[in-house]
Amino acid sequence: MPEWLNDAVFYQIYPQSFYDSNGDGIGDINGIIQKLDYVKGLGCNAIWLNPVYDSPFMDGGYDVCNYKQVAKRYGTNDDLVNLFNEAHKKRIKILLDLVPGHTSDTHEWFLNAKKAAENEYSNRYIFTKSVWDAPPQYRMMCGICERNGNYLVNYFSSQPALNYGFYEITHPEWQLPPDHPDCLATVEAIKDIMRFWLDKGADGFRVDMADSLVKNDEEKIATAKIWRGIREMLDKEYPEAAMVAEWCNPQCAINNAGFHMDFYLDHYGNGYSRLFRYGEWGNEAVFNSNGKGSIKDFADEYLPAYECSKNNGYISFMTNNHDMPRITAYLDKQAIKLVNAFIFTMPGVPFLYYGDEIGMKYQGDLVSKEGGFSRTGSRTPMQWTSGKNLGFSTSDEIYLPVDKSTDAPTVENQINDPDSVYKVITDMIALRHKYDDLKGNGELEFIYEDGKVPFAYRRGNLIMYFNPLAAQSEMQTAYSGDVIYKLGDSTFADGKIIMSPQSFVMINIK
Ligand code: NOJ
Repeated sequence: MPEWLNDAVFYQIYPQSFYDSNGDGIGDINGIIQKLDYVKGLGCNAIWLNPVYDSPFMDGGYDVCNYKQVAKRYGTNDDLVNLFNEAHKKRIKILLDLVPGHTSDTHEWFLNAKKAAENEYSNRYIFTKSVWDAPPQYRMMCGICERNGNYLVNYFSSQPALNYGFYEITHPEWQLPPDHPDCLATVEAIKDIMRFWLDKGADGFRVDMADSLVKNDEEKIATAKIWRGIREMLDKEYPEAAMVAEWCNPQCAINNAGFHMDFYLDHYGNGYSRLFRYGEWGNEAVFNSNGKGSIKDFADEYLPAYECSKNNGYISFMTNNHDMPRITAYLDKQAIKLVNAFIFTMPGVPFLYYGDEIGMKYQGDLVSKEGGFSRTGSRTPMQWTSGKNLGFSTSDEIYLPVDKSTDAPTVENQINDPDSVYKVITDMIALRHKYDDLKGNGELEFIYEDGKVPFAYRRGNLIMYFNPLAAQSEMQTAYSGDVIYKLGDSTFADGKIIMSPQSFVMINIK
């Protein structure tokens, strides 16, 4: 296990929207290099970069046509290597985004696979034997190439599924077992891509749809086997490299498949969604001041997953990502501060989505861009200054419009504001680096009674108390100690905590 993960705090960068260094209206790698000190200033010591590979951008770059080539709009392979080097000088790690489940239908492998004549790539994707043969349980495309067959897609229509075989075979005439040499060749091709970037200085990968490899693999047995093999390769050849899964099942992803980290994703009704998204636009969320305030539903779902995986890897909380509406669509500012106090004091490895630190708004009324659809509103340009395009670009035409509201938050106006979300996030990250108890490996114990506020949890000698509700609440605790951080106007004396509405207190009981 790479030791750096214990103290890692990630910043997620959507490259097209971060910073445009050459004035062409779109973010680029050199722009990220110029902003590394900003990332460092947040306290983040690692970056997850969304896909930067060549692509027709039908799905924001998750439709890769060349895994070994940086898309022109972001720069060159040399620029990316330069980013690795400059980041490393500042002790920042860089994870690239690995997309192993599918490619673009313009990838050379697919251009060969769709030829009628059999060739090396005929089994790289999953084709039925005839265009007339389209079993309804599979998402298939047909009639658009000379090869006589339907092919399976993994996501959008332009993203054909790579072939890792079928665990349960329902149609032996076209489904291969996972240990078929052609399926093993797909795994080798992915390992080759990983080595290519790791050799150039990447520190690992966020893995897109990591659970989607082998089909008809309900329990993910064969899919996990592939990842375990890849983890063995990393342990042997790149022991400092790390992988985080887009999976949201720590038992499978961490314990069985060998991922170092697994994202706690927004699956409706799960613990993560209960924090700020639950109900109609968050009206029943834990952190909604008019909600129930109970952490129990979250804990019931999260704690078993945490307990079973904590010795093998990390659950990754995130403030948001490029697939969900930003938190500002759900909660008020004080609630958002509490959410961040929560996320950055949980065990595991946290991820901060660019712009969340300044409270960027979800731009819900934008026309879809590059397959974004409802996600487009969370992918708008970073807001740096009050200048042209809020400091994102000097171009007259930009990738997506910036927030046009008069009170649009910017780095410039948030960074010195003592009442900002930025202040809370940077404070929490600093505390996380300062106290070992708050880091990834630190212990966690929940202290709460069903449905009651405040709720609390203990991380070693530190106890976090939260009152997310609009009314004051109090509690006689079993502890004495010093308040080392608070949000709101709470008091703590003789073990009694009186918490003002929407407040947070961190106590050191040592
Ligand atoms: C998950 C990614 O986060 C999302 O943006 C993408 O569209 C799908 N996977 C398909 O690759």
